[in-house]
Amino acid sequence: MIIERLCQEHRNIETLLAVLERELEIFDRGDRPDYDVIRTIINYFEVYPDLYHHPLEDLVFAKFKIRDPAAAAKVGNLTLEHQKGAERLRRAAQAVDGVLAGREILRQDVDTIVRDFIEHERRHIMMEDRDFFPAALKALEPQDWTEIASTLISRKDPLFSEVAEKRFYALRAHILQSEQEAEAGRH
Ligand SMILES: [Fe+2]
Repeated sequence: MIIERLCQEHRNIETLLAVLERELEIFDRGDRPDYDVIRTIINYFEVYPDLYHHPLEDLVFAKFKIRDPAAAAKVGNLTLEHQKGAERLRRAAQAVDGVLAGREILRQDVDTIVRDFIEHERRHIMMEDRDFFPAALKALEPQDWTEIASTLISRKDPLFSEVAEKRFYALRAHILQSEQEAEAGRH
């Protein structure tokens, strides 16, 4: 159940990365992207993953390290990767804020910085899905999951849960619309 939740959160993150990438392509063409959407996505990344998703993964990883240190070592240093991700996000937020503040920044530089965040997030998620989650499922004992569940932060995702926060309403509508457009494009 915990791994399912983490996987579902990865799918949600991928959806957001795809929306962000689409806006970046508009920016690259020299057009004006939807900065509200971009800023809200960054805002979401600044809050949710670091407060809920990564701490939960860190809890699973801590148990995993106790049960099977060798397998955990193969997965690598998750905490460090999460820190690096937060750093890449900070750079992306600064670049976008710079553009919004009218500062002189090369389009190419903004593109490189934001793309760097998107690409690394995707790779990180892929690694966790492929290496970390299956290995943790194998190594952890039932009591580990019970313990993790008991420390689980009960707060709901402010964007993807049924109790989404008001500030994310517009982004939700935007995601729904782009999903419908993508769906229509397939027919
Ligand atoms: Fe993750």
